[in-house]
Amino acid sequence: MNIAEIIALKNKRKITMLTAYDYPMASLVDKAGIDIILVGDSLANVVLGLESTTQVGMTEMLHHAKAVTRAVKNSLVVGDMPYDSYQINSNECVKNAKRFIQEANCQAIKLEWFEHCLEVTEQIINAGIPVMGHIGLTPQTSDKIGGFIVQGKSAEAAKKLINQAVELQKKGCFAIVLECVPDKIAELITKKISIPTIGIGAGVNCDGQVLVINDMLGLFQRYTPKFVKKYIDLAALISKALEDFKNEVTQEKFPTHEHSFTIPEEELKKINEN
Ligand code: KIV
Repeated sequence: MNIAEIIALKNKRKITMLTAYDYPMASLVDKAGIDIILVGDSLANVVLGLESTTQVGMTEMLHHAKAVTRAVKNSLVVGDMPYDSYQINSNECVKNAKRFIQEANCQAIKLEWFEHCLEVTEQIINAGIPVMGHIGLTPQTSDKIGGFIVQGKSAEAAKKLINQAVELQKKGCFAIVLECVPDKIAELITKKISIPTIGIGAGVNCDGQVLVINDMLGLFQRYTPKFVKKYIDLAALISKALEDFKNEVTQEKFPTHEHSFTIPEEELKKINEN
């Protein structure tokens, strides 16, 4: 998958996107034929046990992005710019975006809407790096947008979102994530712009859908947002396997002959003779 192929999918078929943070999961997502893999800063919550996505930086993001790209053969890999890397240190945004491409082998970066989003987006695109926008609920600035709540619920707020999407397209973004936006507003945005919209809690009319993989596999148990569909309860399956291991070891049912190595009888005898 490359950027042009992703853009060309608009109005042809829905785009699929999932997060991944390590080699084994990225390998499965890639083999499943998912179009885009996002190395999301949700890493903070679902992998590192932190409270906020603002608590991860370039070191953690690059470490995980490298593991993901080592596994991927077909999907487009997008690195999520951590909060510090472009909102706090906006003068370093291009340098940091380049690190995702040059050091971690990502094909693009994603960044969330904030006060100076358009300037930063322009600088990164001018440096030749493809950018995916992210509007609506932007977790990195949740304190400034009223918390983890649906965005664009009044006509005025919805118009602002539509405007943000149009401006991001003008700056040259290749796609935009719409997070927690009323479905009718997501539909309006999707019809208004010519680049794909990827929804998460934004209804069925977006050009594609994204979920956090640990949510949809039932691996993240701290909380489950309304927009998440759990396709499997992996936490329950893993707990059962761990319980079985514990019981079999304590009851000496594991390992069996099948999992053990042998020595020829005559060699064993020699040890006893000495
Ligand atoms: O970090 C992340 O996982 C994201 C998705 C929710 C789009 O930004």
